[in-house]
Amino acid sequence: MRTPIIVGNWKMHHTIQQAQEFIRTLAHVTHHSSKRIFIATPFTAIRGSAEVAKGTNIVIGAQNMHEAESGPFTGEVSAEMIKEAGARFVLLGHSERRHLFHETNELINRKMKRTFVHSQRDRLLPILCIGETLKERESGQIKRVLCLQLEACLKEIDPIEMVLAYEPVWAIGTGQTATPQIAEEAHLICREFLTNLWGQSTAERINILYGGSVTPETAFELFGQPNIDGGLIGGASLDVKKFIQIIGAS
Ligand code: PGA
Repeated sequence: MRTPIIVGNWKMHHTIQQAQEFIRTLAHVTHHSSKRIFIATPFTAIRGSAEVAKGTNIVIGAQNMHEAESGPFTGEVSAEMIKEAGARFVLLGHSERRHLFHETNELINRKMKRTFVHSQRDRLLPILCIGETLKERESGQIKRVLCLQLEACLKEIDPIEMVLAYEPVWAIGTGQTATPQIAEEAHLICREFLTNLWGQSTAERINILYGGSVTPETAFELFGQPNIDGGLIGGASLDVKKFIQIIGAS
């Protein structure tokens, strides 16, 4: 059985102090919970958040990283740097990175490989995000698009410990959540792809999260689907009460 993972993606919100206050409250309320609770903070808040989260069931991570080990890349942050700051996971290929910052599947594949190098020494769990646009959905291309993204992002990668997040682009930050049936169908496509790529036992171990306008109202039914193993929560993860309700629904 896969233990559900609930990931909060704070995007460009929360200063160090705000992050620490949030995590203190969250840890206080959820300290008996057996759920896996992850928070992807801004780079600046990783260290302060990790300090507060120490000894709790909350895991801190980053929202992005550069694919190179180090180098002349002004403004960029490496895997080693986020790890040293206290990140234990990293979101890769989020649709905002793909659409606003022009990240390609090939680039995301290089970042995946970089986390792999790091995983061998000291864990940095990649959470790979994929999903179709409204146009692709309306033209009936969901399976093709998801499989293309998976194939390119996981190219030349041996079975690794990773998490996958299915996030339909049309549902992110729009208030338009996928129905549980639509989401489950996409998760099944992903699970089948992983089974063909890495075999059943590996595919069965990988958590596939749903993301896109999840709220306390929609979480319960979504997380009740057999192939939905938790959620990637944007907007609702900024409100500690809502986030706790969503954790409770998983
Ligand atoms: P949302 O964001 O919950 O605000 O739609 C999800 C995400 O961007 O991961």
